[in-house]
Amino acid sequence: MKNKVFLILGGTGSVGSAIGDIVEKEGAIVCRHGFDAGDYQADLSKDGEAKKLIEKIIKDRGHLEGIINSISAPVKIAPLEKKTWQDFEKHLSVQLKAGVDVILSALPSFKKQGGDIINILTNYVVGDPPASLSDYVTAKYAVLGFTKSLLRDLGKYQIRVNAVSPSFIRNQFTKDIPEKLDELLAAQSSLGRLTTVEDVAKAVLDLLQKGETGKHIIIDGGYVEINSL
Ligand SMILES: NC(=O)c1ccc[n+]([C@@H]2O[C@H](COP(=O)([O-])OP(=O)(O)OC[C@H]3O[C@@H](n4cnc5c(N)ncnc54)[C@H](OP(=O)(O)O)[C@@H]3O)[C@@H](O)[C@H]2O)c1
Repeated sequence: MKNKVFLILGGTGSVGSAIGDIVEKEGAIVCRHGFDAGDYQADLSKDGEAKKLIEKIIKDRGHLEGIINSISAPVKIAPLEKKTWQDFEKHLSVQLKAGVDVILSALPSFKKQGGDIINILTNYVVGDPPASLSDYVTAKYAVLGFTKSLLRDLGKYQIRVNAVSPSFIRNQFTKDIPEKLDELLAAQSSLGRLTTVEDVAKAVLDLLQKGETGKHIIIDGGYVEINSL
């Protein structure tokens, strides 16, 4: 990990910060991207922003070996009939477009020395998703499809691709979900507790340190299941 440069998309967020911290402790250089904060600020739903972001990292750091995508627009909990195409577009443009644009911009550098791509999804992509999150869940499935395609298309350049799918985490992102649900969700999880950002960060570090590719790690209340992408 030493001196490898990692870009964390959503590196100012709750999960992204934990990933940045654990990777940094292992000697990596971490570029923390945020929507309106962080060393590398960019609204990645806009055209041209990803290219500028990657150019700045290459100018500042000289190289880039890893991209971890931990971004999402805030979730709006509402039944399908209360959503609009704009809600879907918002999630697709923040999660999918951001990932596509950033990876395409980073490819020339990645192709030279290989690299790691890890997308943070959600455990809803492996089970039945809950109601009232159709825009968010649809975008996550799109990012899962993109992740599988990256694995097939980029392996020949020694680019490793993995995904990590956590279950519900109590943090700012889930502030609109009533806290009284925590006990119920914890009881449904394998270890009887909620997933934490540290669980996610440890899974990411493990993938990077072992040089894994094609793995889909599902984290449910501390319990870790490993599938293939
Ligand atoms: N929390 C959970 O229960 C949970 C469970 C499963 C999966 N996840 C996934 O984990 C990832 C991180 O979630 P989190 O809990 O850490 O949420 P968070 O704290 O709200 O972090 C979201 C990040 O996305 C960035 N962002 C939002 N809109 C953006 C835009 N238009 N352009 C660029 N960046 C934008 C935010 O930047 P600013 O900080 O500058 O606004 C922030 O860094 C997401 O992919 C989420 O879907 C979360």
